[in-house]
Amino acid sequence: MTEPGKAGKFITFEGIDGAGKSTHIGFVAEYLAARGKTVVSSREPGGTPLGEKLRELLLHEKMHLETEALLMFASRREHMARVIEPALSRGDWVLSDRFTDASFAYQSGGRGLDRAKLEALEGWVHPELQPDLTLLFDVPLAVARQRLDATRTLDKFEREQADFFEKCRNEYLRRAAQFPERIVVVDSTRSIAAIQLRLAEILEKLS
Ligand code: ADP
Ligand code: TYD
Repeated sequence: MTEPGKAGKFITFEGIDGAGKSTHIGFVAEYLAARGKTVVSSREPGGTPLGEKLRELLLHEKMHLETEALLMFASRREHMARVIEPALSRGDWVLSDRFTDASFAYQSGGRGLDRAKLEALEGWVHPELQPDLTLLFDVPLAVARQRLDATRTLDKFEREQADFFEKCRNEYLRRAAQFPERIVVVDSTRSIAAIQLRLAEILEKLS
């Protein structure tokens, strides 16, 4: 049982590749740790030894669209059981670089999988739990591409064409409109410093 007043929160970081999630997750972790919270930072796909093996497959192997969706949720099931639920029941705060909104954005928005199939998987893998807060880092595609090109070797998703990412971004924004209490859209075209001020404001309200 979590001590009263010590309940941790579950925060997820979302956005198209190159939007700035990884840049800001470290800031949020430090911000919370400085306020006495115990923070567990993790990511999807991945976050567990098995999940990291699935991540390798997901990011580098061609596969059927439904196989991809199922493996994303297989990784998530493991992540829930081994990391997210134990951490939350200890009263820790959990930060996850992507979660189920990414499946809706990429597998449904980007690739066209029927949303109802993802809703069925969501109902199976985490029927009760939703993030307390989802930070959606939003940038126009051109900005995200430019940031990505400058930094790294691109994986299977990052090599997709522009219209794929437009569709992912639109699905993220559609979900932000659908779940306004949970998903906060952060204008990620701003400077890193300006975004951090905004994040501090958002976190202040949450804790
Ligand atoms: P993601 O994790 O969303 O794919 P990253 O956090 O890795 O994106 O950011 C991609 C690149 O863009 C990195 O080189 C990062 O330093 C840079 N970057 C992130 N946010 C900003 C920003 N607000 N302004 C300028 N560059 C940024
Ligand atoms: P990410 O960790 O953001 O990649 P990077 O380390 O390169 O920043 O995410 C890996 C990729 O997986 C990303 O392109 C989005 C994709 N993805 C999905 O398609 N569906 C999902 O459910 C998740 C969690 C990720």
